[in-house]
This record gives sequence, structure tokens and C-alpha cells, in this order.
Amino acid sequence: MKKMEQIYEGKAKKVFATDDPKIVIVDYKDDATAFNGLKKGTIAGKGVVNNKVSNHFFRLLESHGIPTHYVEQLSDRETAVRRVEILPVEVIVRNRAAGSFSKRMGVEEGTNLACPILEYSYKNDDLGDPFINSYYIRALNIATDEEMEQVKNYSFQINDILKSYLDGFGIELIDFKLEFGRFDGKVILADEISPDTCRFWDKATGKKLDKDRFRRDLGDVEDAYHEIISRLMGE
Ligand code: TMP
Ligand code: ASP
Repeated sequence: MKKMEQIYEGKAKKVFATDDPKIVIVDYKDDATAFNGLKKGTIAGKGVVNNKVSNHFFRLLESHGIPTHYVEQLSDRETAVRRVEILPVEVIVRNRAAGSFSKRMGVEEGTNLACPILEYSYKNDDLGDPFINSYYIRALNIATDEEMEQVKNYSFQINDILKSYLDGFGIELIDFKLEFGRFDGKVILADEISPDTCRFWDKATGKKLDKDRFRRDLGDVEDAYHEIISRLMGE
């Protein structure tokens, strides 16, 4: 597979075309942003951690029957993935109150939820990724009902798989964000699952092992990313 021209650069990744029209290469950067790009910085080694951790999760999910864009890891920072048409919906699954949910609902961070929550936002940086619901998605033809049924079912399955997997490494999955794409007429999991897109709390101490250390200036940011890769992959 030949890496060709860059076709996109996002906040945390670059995407390159290949000689196969159905495959692109993602290249993970160390750049970090928060609050819709208002806060900017660098987390040394983040791109390597996110690439490897995300691939590790995607292989795990594939082994449980979840279709994903993952094809092959090419290097520490590069992975070949299926070229999808991204659904412009960010799917958030929450197991405990935290972040924007705590703020919006006035519920203290860490409060247990009676059941997991599924939440959508419209993927649009200019609008600040506004909160939407299934009626917005249907009314604006953002995705079909059939596609969203798949998205919902996959998201809860992914939550169950990741929650119990991470529990075995002493990590609690508080919440996370997923993105899906269309490929050959089907919905598959895309983007990444990493400390950038999840809240991971140490089960024993409650220590945050994710991007909240950067968002909130908690220090030990690089260490937290490293802790995740070393626990999960022994690196
Ligand atoms: P939130 O509490 O800020 O809404 O975040 C919920 C989860 O989604 C959290 O694990 C972080 C992740 N997330 C992203 O991956 N990208 C984003 O742009 C935002 C706002 C959150
Ligand atoms: N990466 C996102 C941004 O800069 C937000 C976040 O992860 O907090 O907008």
C-alpha cells in the first residue's frame, strides 16, 4: 500500500490517500486541543499512545463482532483504515456523571447513573458540536433511522465490551465518544477510541488517566497516557 497525498488535517490526526481508493492512512499527531480548539498544546508521545491504544480496542471490538474501519497498523503513528463517509454525529456514552453532563444537569462528577446514557451531538466545529437528538437527525437527513438503530446498538455493545475489558486492568470507563461511518452501504465504527476520547478513572484511587488532565491543567498528562498503554499493552 502506497501513502499518497494528504487529504485532510484535523486537530489530532492527518489523513492520507493511498493507491487503494477504499483505504486511507491516518497519522496521529501530538497536538492537543480542548474546548473546541480554544486551548492548544502538545502532549509528547500522545499520537503513538492513541494510535496503539485505539487499534488495540478496535481489534478487541472486531473480535466481538463489531465492524470497524481498522485494517492494519503501519507504524507507531500510522494506521491503514477503510475510507468511510463519516456520519456527522458524535455519539457519547456515559456510565457516570462527568464533564458537560455534570455541568448541564447540576449532578456532581462521579455520581453513578441508574443506566448508561446515550447522547448525540452534531459534528460541526463552527457551531461548537451542539447537542442534538434523534428528531434533529431525522429532520435534517443526517442519517437514516436504520443507520441510527445500528449506531445505538453498536454503541451499547461497545460500552459493555470496553467496560468489562478495562475493569480487568483496574480502570473504570466513565464515558466516551464514538464516531461511525458508511462503508459499502453499512455502518461501521470509525475515528478513534483513546485517552483523548474517553474518561478513564483508576478504580482504586479515582485518578484521571485521560485528556481531562490536559483540559483541566491537572499535570502528569504524558504519564497518564503512558499509564494506559502500559496497563493495557505492557509497553
Ligand atoms: P463531555 O463530558 O465534555 O461531553 O465529554 C464526554 C466524552 O466525550 C469524554 O469522554 C470526552 C469525549 N469528547 C471527545 O472525544 N471529543 C470532544 O470534542 C468532546 C467535547 C468530548
Ligand atoms: N478536542 C476537542 C476540541 O478541541 C475537545 C475536547 O476533547 O475536549 O474541540
